[in-house]
Amino acid sequence: MLYLRYSPGIMVLSDKSYRKIIPLAGGKGGVGKSILTVNLGLYLGRLGKRVILVDLDMGASNLHTCLGLKNTRPGLGNYLANKNLALQDVMYRTDYPNLFFIPGDVLAPGMADIVYNQKRNIVSQLLKLEADYIIMDLGAGSHFNIIDFFLISNSGLLIVAPQVTSLLNAFSFLKNLNFRFLQRALTGKPSVETYIRDVLRETRPNIHFRMNKILHDIEKLDKSEAKKAREYLKNLKPSLIVNMATAPEDLKLIENLRYLVKDSLNIDLSCLGMVCADNEVDKAMKKLMPLAVQSPDSIAAKQIERIAEKIFQSHNFPDLPLDLSLYKDSFELASIEAENDWAGMREAAANADPESRGGDTADMQAIIAAQQQKIQELQQTVRMLTLGAPKMDTE
Ligand SMILES: Nc1ncnc2c1ncn2[C@@H]1O[C@H](COP(=O)(O)OP(=O)(O)OP(=O)(O)O)[C@@H](O)[C@H]1O
Ligand SMILES: [Mg+2]
Repeated sequence: MLYLRYSPGIMVLSDKSYRKIIPLAGGKGGVGKSILTVNLGLYLGRLGKRVILVDLDMGASNLHTCLGLKNTRPGLGNYLANKNLALQDVMYRTDYPNLFFIPGDVLAPGMADIVYNQKRNIVSQLLKLEADYIIMDLGAGSHFNIIDFFLISNSGLLIVAPQVTSLLNAFSFLKNLNFRFLQRALTGKPSVETYIRDVLRETRPNIHFRMNKILHDIEKLDKSEAKKAREYLKNLKPSLIVNMATAPEDLKLIENLRYLVKDSLNIDLSCLGMVCADNEVDKAMKKLMPLAVQSPDSIAAKQIERIAEKIFQSHNFPDLPLDLSLYKDSFELASIEAENDWAGMREAAANADPESRGGDTADMQAIIAAQQQKIQELQQTVRMLTLGAPKMDTE
């Protein structure tokens, strides 16, 4: 077993550390990264863990809004602009138990243009903070700035919505993640470095890369670098959270992403759970209150709480302590949970005021129709992603 130690831009392994860095990304905007960052942090704080939330959504910081705070406090932007500030100076205790917050760059913009040394500085200072969990909201996109922060941990969470665009963006994110990781991890052998740089520069359309082919090529150049790459990649274990789900079947759409990612990128995704599309989320947002505080009994809040508990119970996160005698993997567990959640919702709807049932039926029909549409769209997406692939693959 190869242990990865912190090396700027590569990785921090949480195995031996009590502290867990959990970056949240999603590729796509508006999929719920900030809502999940805040509410996961809140639940972990309630479970007695010391949690620091960090707004790393460079250029579009708004985590304070999800926490119900005004943007009056200096944050990371000020920290970067002012050499006399320490990171602790821009960390604040929130009103919620064990929950601390480092704002982004609303008061001192400029983090969108952050340079490598600044990223390195933030990471090394973050690592010095005392915390059980450091949860980082990374914002949308697959830019290397975002990827580099995602890569400081092997416990990254990728938030996806059951929509074609979200799946496409998640796939691009993971592809960039893989390549950047290799680029950062495999330094020292010029032939391998040049090969990876050339792969990254490849812009011809319809070239579909497969990690197996890339590893095979690296092996031809340098066996030990290829071995190192394979071991590193095994440690890259992003987990998915499916947000804004409208039915348990949404997970089937996401499983297509899982198989595609395994097949072409050699990444084993796991699934921490599903969170349904719930009006209570928006209501809480409008009241500038975290969902877990404003609407703790809502279905979305319960589902986020369950995800927080999985993180809490995992002593070796992102590896989950799954009872494999009951289900085969994290996706099957998420599917069972979702079936139960939706059955509960249907039962609650059936027990509700009879006059409202007509509305429920209409809602249900609309959900089913939307679902069928989504399945068709996804089949189309999978065709798009695999089209033209992979003449390069020799394995
Ligand atoms: N489970 C949900 N059910 C209903 N609405 C949701 C849910 N999750 C998020 N939303 C809504 O979606 C919107 C976007 O959420 P959020 O700001 O957390 O996304 P984001 O991924 O952080 O976006 P950005 O990329 O712009 O930072 C918000 O208005 C929020 O209320
Ligand atoms: Mg956000």
